[in-house]
Amino acid sequence: MLIRPRRNRRTPAIRAMVRETHLSVDNLIYPYFVVDGSKKKIAIESLPDLYRWSEDELLRDFDEAMELGLRNFVLFPAVEDKLKDKEATYSIDENNFYLRIIRAVKERFPEASLMSDVAMDPYSSDGHDGLVEDGSILNDETLPILSDMAVAQAEAGIDIIGPSDMMDGRVEAIRDALDQEGFEEVAIMSYTAKYASAFYGPFRDALDSAPKSGDKKTYQMDPANKREALREAALDVEEGADYLMVKPALCYLDIIHQLKEDFDVPVTAYNVSGEYAMLKAAAQKGWLNYDQAMPEMLLSIRRAGADGILTYFAKDFARLVKNNAL
Ligand code: PBG
Repeated sequence: MLIRPRRNRRTPAIRAMVRETHLSVDNLIYPYFVVDGSKKKIAIESLPDLYRWSEDELLRDFDEAMELGLRNFVLFPAVEDKLKDKEATYSIDENNFYLRIIRAVKERFPEASLMSDVAMDPYSSDGHDGLVEDGSILNDETLPILSDMAVAQAEAGIDIIGPSDMMDGRVEAIRDALDQEGFEEVAIMSYTAKYASAFYGPFRDALDSAPKSGDKKTYQMDPANKREALREAALDVEEGADYLMVKPALCYLDIIHQLKEDFDVPVTAYNVSGEYAMLKAAAQKGWLNYDQAMPEMLLSIRRAGADGILTYFAKDFARLVKNNAL
């Protein structure tokens, strides 16, 4: 036998030397769910080890995350039902706790990069990402609401706006609004190929944001489609997106790969709540080794072509790195 691939796998040193994909804490974006009030750290049943944090508790935990080397974060607000309405007006309310928390985090941790979520669902009494009229999700009427939301978040100090709503034309509308208000430096990470996925369930539990009626299939993409992702990506780049995101990640590695091949902006992936929950559940039952399966999942997303990964695993991964346990 002339050719023996196993020779390149013989020792840890050799394996490290020929390793093709690297994953570092630098690649990861860590999500936090936040609530109003103080002294709150509320467990989320379907997301083991994750919490809804009030500002004071969040800042404490943030310290720990920064200590672990994490620098990129995204915040999601869990809003009380009584503050929700059809127009999502609380999203730009001057007393909005989410905007207050963005300010507090940026003040305390100026070196952290903060990303926000732009969509109506956390604030909407209909639980949809856009305005609802007679059961339909209105596109063009939703754009000014999303733009106002983005500007309010930029005023609070956000670094990256993350439109997760899938309305047509939102990237351009948000870019225009940001520029008009002097926020040229605020970036847009567009949820470019966001699929109508069953893997968002635990997230909707965390925010209590599930649609009150219908589903999201008239705006989120059909899981069967790949060419459509290219169309969305081309539009987002044209409209001024700084990053293209694919969501979810693990069932959509082919989409990540394709966008990385075809476009020259950074590609990111959202390793969503359901992907986190299923591994945590299997690990709790002792059916999978968490510390081994988790980095393998993240690595597969990098190998597919993602530059950045938004993942609930970020802190656990950073801990493994810190403890030299990889
Ligand atoms: C809101 C939004 C959702 C997620 C991120 N932003 C839920 C949805 O679209 O229904 C899901 C993220 C996750 O599951 O981790 N538009």
